[in-house]
Amino acid sequence: MNIILLGPPGAGKGTQSDHLRDTYNLAKFATGDMLREAAEAGTPLGLQAKEIMAKGALVPDEVMIGIIKDAIEGMPTEKKGFILDGFPRTTGQAEALDVMLSGMGRTLDHVIELQVVDDVLVERISGRFSCAKCGAGYHDSFKQPAKEGVCDACGSTEFKRRADDNAATVGKRLEAYHAQTAPLLPYYAKTGRLQSVDGMAAIDAVTAELDGLLGKAS
Ligand code: AP5
Repeated sequence: MNIILLGPPGAGKGTQSDHLRDTYNLAKFATGDMLREAAEAGTPLGLQAKEIMAKGALVPDEVMIGIIKDAIEGMPTEKKGFILDGFPRTTGQAEALDVMLSGMGRTLDHVIELQVVDDVLVERISGRFSCAKCGAGYHDSFKQPAKEGVCDACGSTEFKRRADDNAATVGKRLEAYHAQTAPLLPYYAKTGRLQSVDGMAAIDAVTAELDGLLGKAS
């Protein structure tokens, strides 16, 4: 099963794709996470991406298409498919993905949009933090660790916040979403591939709706 999760910054793509990865034994390719790892490692690509991400702009299509092609080609054979979180983000990336998958003899089974209005996104992003050791995601209001200051997943007490999660950059990321990524919705809708989920609902309710779409009662 191959899935794309679409939605604006803060819509819940990362939160839900972790669940989908674990529940359906999928490889998860989150392009933002991949770029942040490259930036932390100080690779030439990472350093270029770090500057672009700090401005809330998009990394060039040819770079992202190459990253995803390598990731899908190198996917572990025991995985039952993949989930793309943050890719494609432009019509050029979507068209390249269609060509790439056709060449690999793979299909897209679900393209799912998480619908959330802009006002809510700013609140979600500004309250977000993650475990510095294992990357598990949390929120000041919506998803706190069961024991304050201790990661539920790995027990670490170190947490971090993303450099691009400040008000000015979030505004730019939303502009980039509406100008460059929202046109993907009609791109997938016109070939009957788009499914939409109410991303404004509580995290568990969104998860249940996704499981309903993917055929597993939760
Ligand atoms: P990326 O890392 O992909 O960021 P993004 O798309 O802006 O998405 P986010 O990670 O901010 O949000 P999310 O939807 O995953 O929300 P989350 O689940 O964390 O990209 C970063 C940058 O990399 C881009 O700006 C660009 O520069 C570059 N880049 C990446 N891919 C690229 C590409 N393909 N092409 C070009 N450039 C690219 O949820 C947010 C918070 O809300 C969390 O705290 C969560 O707990 C909470 N939450 C989630 N769901 C709910 C809910 N239902 N109710 C209440 N709270 C919720």
